[in-house]
Amino acid sequence: MKSLGLIAELRETVLEWRAAGDRIAFVPTMGNLHDGHLRLVNEARSLADRVVVSVFVNPSQFGPFEDFGAYPRTPAEDAAKLGALDVDLLYLPEVAEMYPDDPARMAFIELPGLSEDLCGKFRPGHFRGVATVVLKLFNQVQPDLAVFGEKDYQQLTIIRRMVRDMNLPVDILGVPTVRESNGLAMSSRNAYLSKDDRVRAGLLFAALCQAGEALQRGCRDFSVIEDRQTKALSDAGFGVDYFAIRRQDDLRLPTSEDLSLVVLVAARLGRTRLIDNLKVGLDLLS
Ligand code: PAJ
Repeated sequence: MKSLGLIAELRETVLEWRAAGDRIAFVPTMGNLHDGHLRLVNEARSLADRVVVSVFVNPSQFGPFEDFGAYPRTPAEDAAKLGALDVDLLYLPEVAEMYPDDPARMAFIELPGLSEDLCGKFRPGHFRGVATVVLKLFNQVQPDLAVFGEKDYQQLTIIRRMVRDMNLPVDILGVPTVRESNGLAMSSRNAYLSKDDRVRAGLLFAALCQAGEALQRGCRDFSVIEDRQTKALSDAGFGVDYFAIRRQDDLRLPTSEDLSLVVLVAARLGRTRLIDNLKVGLDLLS
């Protein structure tokens, strides 16, 4: 596996692959790789001739009081895992090249109606940072295909919208969430949890499943379901930012006619903020 950090070097390699007619898949990450990330890499490997994985802890998507400094960085372990999966190129951009100028004066991507909702309400500027860095990474790597996790459902929705609105020639593939045995979605931030909280965090997925079952049983009083699960999680010691039922494709509020729904949750255990979601497809006949 090749490993490089400068845009010019990356371009040279990608240009050679393109000249050879290779299809290129890209998996952007912030590192500290776990089985969720590796599932994305495997998916990319099965769909393309060349696989590029980036590891970049992107400062512009962290708020001033968030965990940018403390975010787990494990470069040697990450490289070993990616090498074992037959990745062609590990791209390690440098902050100075990604953000050479005053961030207050640079171009950025905003997605009205999507960026400020749900997690955007609690993390102002987060999705602007995500969308901007992903667009920059797409322009640097120039992939045919990029793979993202459904774990970050709002992020995936935003990337799809950006690709559509900006006419980017990149196919976006969403991959289902990889979970621990108790249902907890794998996340680099799970490392912040105590042993007890890791067990308790399984309740998040349980709450999503209960909401999904209520929808499947025909309940369309969305706020009743949301309030019930918010209370259950609060009683179990979570600080719930939101528990919300939305439409799968655009994350808008659903009506009782909508059949493709997603239940999303963000909640804090101590100082660790966890997010998760569950897609719920309702059958017309049920
Ligand atoms: P990061 O949190 O490292 O996640 C990288 C990719 O892995 C994302 O597409 C995320 O949805 C996916 N992922 C994380 N946990 C997963 C799980 N348990 N199952 C399946 N996929 C999972 O998301 C980011 O980085 C950044 O915002 C980034 C897109 C790289 C932009 O900086």
